[in-house]
Amino acid sequence: ETVEWEAASYDMGGHDTYMHKEISEQPDAVDRVLRGRIDDRFSTVHLGGLNLDPREARGIRRVKILGCGTSYHAGLIGAGLIESLARIPADAEPASEFRYRNPVVDPDTLYIAVSQSGETYDVLAAVQELKRKGARVLGVVNVVGSAIAREADGGVYVHAGPEVCVVSTKCFTNTVTAFALLALHLGRIRDLSVADGKRIIEGLRKLPAQIQEILEGEEDIKKLAAEYAEAKSMMFIGRVRGYPVALEASLKLKEISYIHAEAYPASELKHGPLALIEPAMPTVAIVPDDDLLEKNRAALEEIKARSGRILAVAHRVQEKADHTILVPKNEDELDPILMGIPLQLLAYHTALALGRDIDKPRNLAKSVTVE
Ligand code: G6P
Repeated sequence: ETVEWEAASYDMGGHDTYMHKEISEQPDAVDRVLRGRIDDRFSTVHLGGLNLDPREARGIRRVKILGCGTSYHAGLIGAGLIESLARIPADAEPASEFRYRNPVVDPDTLYIAVSQSGETYDVLAAVQELKRKGARVLGVVNVVGSAIAREADGGVYVHAGPEVCVVSTKCFTNTVTAFALLALHLGRIRDLSVADGKRIIEGLRKLPAQIQEILEGEEDIKKLAAEYAEAKSMMFIGRVRGYPVALEASLKLKEISYIHAEAYPASELKHGPLALIEPAMPTVAIVPDDDLLEKNRAALEEIKARSGRILAVAHRVQEKADHTILVPKNEDELDPILMGIPLQLLAYHTALALGRDIDKPRNLAKSVTVE
């Protein structure tokens, strides 16, 4: 399975930066990761390069996902998708940590290496160490034929197309969508019902148009960015599915705007970070309309009680927030794919307002191929 990229893909196509171009390409990119993979007859998906037969898939006792930076965050969302749809215990860890702690390698664990470039040294070294110890390793990779794709036993290509900006946007979204496909595939081999399979497939099909709808709100997000660009520091909070979204949004902001940002699970606020809350430290809160809505609202109240400013990303207007960016609702499991997208635009316009070199932030490289 190969995809050829034309030289024209590297053209800015009328955008001022690659980052803006790549954010805008997301509806098409997500369409590509889904294309040809959905099987309506059995309410599942086909992943041609997985190299994992159903009997092996049933024998998996755990899933361990490894990646760095944005790919690690995509892996955290992926772990949540695999746990909820396939009911296999799953977690993600930075590959760089994993390889230095002499991890216990378990034959019933499926290891998944995540990498846009497929060349990140820490991820490649983790894969090689795992393979040397006899583990089964899959890759969730963008660049076809890259070192990690070649080293893995099989995997899923995310087909995001070439990503030039140092920070990852469309590839993150496609990687998370690829994890939704993998989770659905594993789920339907195990205990996910036909009805739930259909529900997720319908949700997946809605994604490109819903992303387009979010992108159409860019002007409003730009105005918000002008306001928040004055902050010296920002807090990002979310709960369960929303927490990796908060982590990724905070990484994006710090990478390109150089504003200090940190992400916390909303439930941990009271165990420390509440001490930081004051008007000069705005909070971005991920507030999906799911079973945790009331819990999230309680966190907004705690922040408001300390005069903190709040920007909510939500499915309905949040009264406690100073501003709400509305995103279209999908299935609960797929909401994280959409909720990060307005925050890519927020980071982008904040960095633009501050005059930063968006495509090439200081001190960072697109892929870190050395130790
Ligand atoms: C570098 C980039 C990050 C990226 C990370 C992992 O640090 O600056 O944007 O997330 O590498 O890259 P990979 O190609 O493995 O996804």
